[in-house]
Amino acid sequence: MSGNPLQDGLRLEPTPGPTTLVIFGASGDLTRRKLLPAIYNLSRGQRLPARFSVIGVSRDDMGDDAFREVFRKSIAELAGVKGDDPVAASVAGRMYYMGGDFKNPETFQRLKAKLAEIETGGALFYLAIPPSTYATVVEQLGAAGLSRGSSPEQWRRVIVEKPFGTDLSTAQELNRIIHQHFDEQQVFRIDHYLGKETVQNLLVFRFANGMFEPIWNRRYIDHVQITAAETVGVERRASYYEGAGALRDMVQNHLMQLLALVAMEPPIAFSADGVRDRKLDALLAAQPLIDDHPGTQNVVRAQYGSGWVEGREVPAYRSDTGVDPASTTETFVAMRMQLDSWRWAGVPFYLRTGKRMPKRTTEIAIQLRRPPLEIFKRVTPTPVAPNLLIINVQPDEGISVRFEAKLPATRMQLAPVMMNFRYGAAFGGPVPEAYETLLLDSMLGDPTLFARHDFVEVSWSLITPVHEKWRDEKVSDLPLYESGEWGPPEADALIARDNRRWRTL
Ligand code: BG6
Repeated sequence: MSGNPLQDGLRLEPTPGPTTLVIFGASGDLTRRKLLPAIYNLSRGQRLPARFSVIGVSRDDMGDDAFREVFRKSIAELAGVKGDDPVAASVAGRMYYMGGDFKNPETFQRLKAKLAEIETGGALFYLAIPPSTYATVVEQLGAAGLSRGSSPEQWRRVIVEKPFGTDLSTAQELNRIIHQHFDEQQVFRIDHYLGKETVQNLLVFRFANGMFEPIWNRRYIDHVQITAAETVGVERRASYYEGAGALRDMVQNHLMQLLALVAMEPPIAFSADGVRDRKLDALLAAQPLIDDHPGTQNVVRAQYGSGWVEGREVPAYRSDTGVDPASTTETFVAMRMQLDSWRWAGVPFYLRTGKRMPKRTTEIAIQLRRPPLEIFKRVTPTPVAPNLLIINVQPDEGISVRFEAKLPATRMQLAPVMMNFRYGAAFGGPVPEAYETLLLDSMLGDPTLFARHDFVEVSWSLITPVHEKWRDEKVSDLPLYESGEWGPPEADALIARDNRRWRTL
């Protein structure tokens, strides 16, 4: 609070109190690509607290100046900052660097001393480090007395990057270790999809409008398709991706979050636990993916072969740098989910994600049931297309509705048309990067857009049996799809079994 209460009333955007952001993994890729540009953009938008500092920590030997140079290079490349920039200079002036081994308690004693020297209220510990080191850093923070602040202004919070565990038991173990040192309110598990503007808009779209919720159920909805397609391949991340695969990398986290936001019941209020409780309920209603009945396969996996993407010839996954030439890691997953809830009984949710698809697009398509009578059957030869509600998560953020219209002619002829809302056209200006929203929310202490411990575990409890089945199958080859195709024929067969088709995107 400022001294002038009127001024507080005028402030529309909440600003966090004094904060020090401690980035573990300061010399890493995530810091350079996402965190440093987000810090700069937040500062430029005057969203950072007046007293804000960054302490970068990693094993590399560099000083404050070298770290500031990393920052300058990162924002020049990724935030379009050219030449002398006063915002960049002011942020850089409050950036510090500490080299140190995470296994050594002395590193954390030095960090403690540095925090005391800077003395800026709250401290946010960002684990931008390999997942194998999360537990070590959390334990060291706890042992050094850094997980508890001495006053409400001296809050302590930890941001944990994905992947959070590799299966149910490792996720449970990580939660257990974290909870030994931090309360759940102090823990912010990142799923950057939750920071995407369109993903947040799903809540507004559903719960701030009166017209969608009455039809948002099994009476009116035929099925839901969620697609997250990427054109990129494994890039330079084979050492991580080989052990992960698309199911861990995209489905367990991002797609499950999207599914929960589509399927959840309305929360009582837009509060962190209100929203997260209802999302958890939605996921708890999901039926196991592994079904013992023959012919009811719910999950299909595949791997990209060579092909053409965006006019460029690309190699097969097995020939990509760092990939085992006999790898059976999946780069594509398609699945069918069923939620046994009053609202969704009998409505299938189809999910698919893959790398090296023909285009980069993430969307949620809600297909409505056909009208009860086909009264135009005699006049129009083609069957009417069912209504469709499409939420374009990216890249062309927006919402579209497909409905039937009469073609202008003297004859009665029907054709599907689209009504489009586009963020760019409606509001102008770019949408903020997910990491900006998430960093700011964690400084404000608002965990609504972060994954809660129980959600992560329920999600893993659905996914882990699939991995176990795959492990036991010990196949030597996966179904292949050509790079630049929409997945293997097996994915088409999965949905065709229900007499449906994947949307053409
Ligand atoms: C990450 C995955 O979580 O999400 C990547 O590890 C993937 O493999 C990325 O490419 C996709 O994110 P976005 O924001 O580009 O859809």
